[in-house]
Amino acid sequence: MSAKKGVFITFEGPDGSGKTTQSGLLVQHLRRQGYDVFHTREPGGTSLAEFLRGVLLRPDANISPVTELLLYSAARAQHTVELIKPALSSGKVVVCERYTDATVAYQGYGRGLELKLIATLNGIATGGLKPDLTIILDIPVRNGLKRVARGRATDRLENEKLSFHEKVRKGYMTISKKDGKRVKIVLSKGSILKIQDRIKWYVESMLKRAQYSI
Ligand SMILES: Nc1ncnc2c1ncn2[C@@H]1O[C@H](COP(=O)(O)OP(=O)(O)O)[C@@H](O)[C@H]1O
Ligand SMILES: [Mg+2]
Repeated sequence: MSAKKGVFITFEGPDGSGKTTQSGLLVQHLRRQGYDVFHTREPGGTSLAEFLRGVLLRPDANISPVTELLLYSAARAQHTVELIKPALSSGKVVVCERYTDATVAYQGYGRGLELKLIATLNGIATGGLKPDLTIILDIPVRNGLKRVARGRATDRLENEKLSFHEKVRKGYMTISKKDGKRVKIVLSKGSILKIQDRIKWYVESMLKRAQYSI
């Protein structure tokens, strides 16, 4: 695989924090400016990973924390090698909803699995690929879950207790503190367009820093 030429942006945050809404708007904005953008999500993207997504999110599935970690990692490995790396090699902007930080937040801080084990599996699944910019959309847990419940039936992870979601949210905060250069917290409060403006600001400064041009 040739060297990475594109840029890699990930969206993270608890359920209902606006990842799908905000990443979609960002992709539209970048395309209007002439960027070649590949928009994708985890778990999913490839046919194998979409199949695993179905398994992972089924409300009635009985999955142990370690099994959950391995299935997410398997889905990520395939997604990375089949779609993300080729898109980056061809110079695209890749926008992905959830990536390695979601595993740290949900399986690490949420389920309590060892962070070292998660870092190892993330390294294997990504082959060392790291996002250039990660936007964590932050929202109080109850507000996020309320937004989700309005839209559609909830999945296995969304059905977890409030205390689990609180741990995930705190986990995301810790991640941003540990890696503040890459990871930016954006408060998912107020109008969708105001939130989008804050995101664009971070994206534009990263593109400038990376000296990335169309
Ligand atoms: N700023 C906002 N204010 C109010 N509702 C919002 C806002 N952003 C998104 N929503 C709504 O909240 C729900 C969850 O948003 P979504 O983008 O699907 O979140 P996620 O992908 O993080 O789960 C959707 O119905 C969406 O229309
Ligand atoms: Mg979503």
